[in-house]
Amino acid sequence: MLHANNLTKCFFPGTPNEIVALNGLSIELSEGQFLTVIGSNGAGKTTFLNLIAGSLFPSEGKITLNGKDVTTVPEHVRAQMVGRVFQEPGMGTASGMTVAQNLVLALNKGHKGLKIGVTQDRKSALREELEQLGLGLEERMNERVTHLSGGQRQGLAVLMATLTMPKILLLDEHTASLDPKNARKILEITEQLVTEKNLTTIMVTHDMNQAIDLGDRLVMLHRGSFVADVNGKKKEQLTVDKLVELFSERNIVDDELLLTMT
Ligand SMILES: Nc1ncnc2c1ncn2[C@@H]1O[C@H](COP(=O)(O)OP(=O)(O)O)[C@@H](O)[C@H]1O
Ligand SMILES: [Mg+2]
Repeated sequence: MLHANNLTKCFFPGTPNEIVALNGLSIELSEGQFLTVIGSNGAGKTTFLNLIAGSLFPSEGKITLNGKDVTTVPEHVRAQMVGRVFQEPGMGTASGMTVAQNLVLALNKGHKGLKIGVTQDRKSALREELEQLGLGLEERMNERVTHLSGGQRQGLAVLMATLTMPKILLLDEHTASLDPKNARKILEITEQLVTEKNLTTIMVTHDMNQAIDLGDRLVMLHRGSFVADVNGKKKEQLTVDKLVELFSERNIVDDELLLTMT
């Protein structure tokens, strides 16, 4: 499904400011797998997602998606295959547009030429999707997204990212700017949509509980490389204590961790 092979990303190469954000990172994900990526600030999590989405190209290495080499396929072309939710609720939605218009925008993603509009039929189908989120958005379809709360906006962003059944869903600390109650609600929605649509998913987080609770596989990203990979029964039985132990076994010390436990 996804095959990332020996990815390296270097910023400002050959200068005194050179940063090696990813350092020979490889991973293979099968269809329907839900991977959580845990790592501290600056570990390279967002860079990893940027390479998969095509927002950035790797300095070295290769990425295939569904058997297709997409290593240097531009982001707007890859967009049809990739759904993405960012940390900031503002980034996943168009603030000047209504809830309904945002959803239609999501439906049109990656389509050239003929665009679909907001017909009455389509609106009622979308209303049903909104109802399932349990955020009351179905009553606010004609309201501008700026009027919504951060939680509602992020819920809408998750729905938009999954609406067209992307080949891969990328979640970048997408609950980090929400209060704990809203964060839990958005995680519930995420699990519900991922399960219902059987989406191959990568969720990046610095929250150990989130990384443990969601998904069927966990990898630890540290200084641009994966340093642990836990799946199957081991993932099911993972606890915060065991995860902390995994970090300390790899000499990743507390002040580097900066991970949160909610
Ligand atoms: N576009 C960029 N230009 C320059 N440096 C970057 C860029 N994006 C990320 N970096 C650097 O790469 C490293 C990894 O960053 P990032 O992937 O954002 O980490 P994380 O998401 O795990 O916090 C950091 O040192 C960061 O400053
Ligand atoms: Mg990040």
